[in-house]
Amino acid sequence: MAFDPEAVRAFERAGFDRAAAAYETAFAPATRCCIPRLLDAAGVASGMDVLDLCCGPGFAGAEALSRGARVTGLDFSEAMLREGRARYPGMTFVHGDAECPPLEPGRFDAAVSNFGVHHVPRPGLALAAMHRVLRPGGRFAFTIWAAPDENIAFGLIANAVRAFGDMSLSTAPPPGGGLSSGGDCLMLLHEAGFADTGAHLVRGVWRHADAGAMLAAMRDGTARNAAMLAAQPADRMPAIEAGLAAAAAPWRDGEGLAVPIACVVAYGTRP
Ligand SMILES: C[S@@+](CC[C@H](N)C(=O)[O-])C[C@H]1O[C@@H](n2cnc3c(N)ncnc32)[C@H](O)[C@@H]1O
Repeated sequence: MAFDPEAVRAFERAGFDRAAAAYETAFAPATRCCIPRLLDAAGVASGMDVLDLCCGPGFAGAEALSRGARVTGLDFSEAMLREGRARYPGMTFVHGDAECPPLEPGRFDAAVSNFGVHHVPRPGLALAAMHRVLRPGGRFAFTIWAAPDENIAFGLIANAVRAFGDMSLSTAPPPGGGLSSGGDCLMLLHEAGFADTGAHLVRGVWRHADAGAMLAAMRDGTARNAAMLAAQPADRMPAIEAGLAAAAAPWRDGEGLAVPIACVVAYGTRP
């Protein structure tokens, strides 16, 4: 299947509309671990106007609010925006696409995107838009998932499906993002015109009662991984779960699984 930005956009929007209600309990425990480092990288502080791009239910924006910032969250999923409006009345939520956000140029002191940019069909367009909506001197920071050798939990799930299921059954269109390293992020930031750039690895832990709960979190809270899991024949799922449980055993503690996850936080300044 060839890359088609509109197919990716439609697939991602439908996936996140479907995931919105369960997102907080299913997937946000993974995405929330990087938020303090993300906000620090963007220099978010009291009195600033801050954009939370691809905000979902607004968890990164909410932490910016608690730092005393004024926050606008933007997402293309109406279902995610509904979740955000219900939780955070102090935040402004805007419906729009990250490639062409309906936002005034130069309006923000800082912008962040927590695990949003790699879902956008053409991440370079999203970064160009962030450059445009920041004031000169404003900082943009974003997170992506690190490659599976660092991001153990995601790697274990993919390996279990590879071994006991069939990755090729997923009907997801090929992504545009393809970002998995600090180098990928720095290249995008430079192409969009950002200066004073940097990227570093942040490690966290994703806790689950057991392997079944880990698979359920991926299935209920994501778009692309959910499609890959949903495409597996029902009779292969017990073997996939058992394979995951065996592979995750080294990370079992008294309360269940505590599997390492890792992301890259990348940032730059609009000159
Ligand atoms: C993995 S979720 C991250 C949500 C949130 N930032 C967090 O910290 O958990 C990705 C979000 O990006 C949004 N998204 C994906 N592609 C987008 C696009 N092209 N324009 C706007 N939002 C998009 C999805 O609707 C979803 O809410």
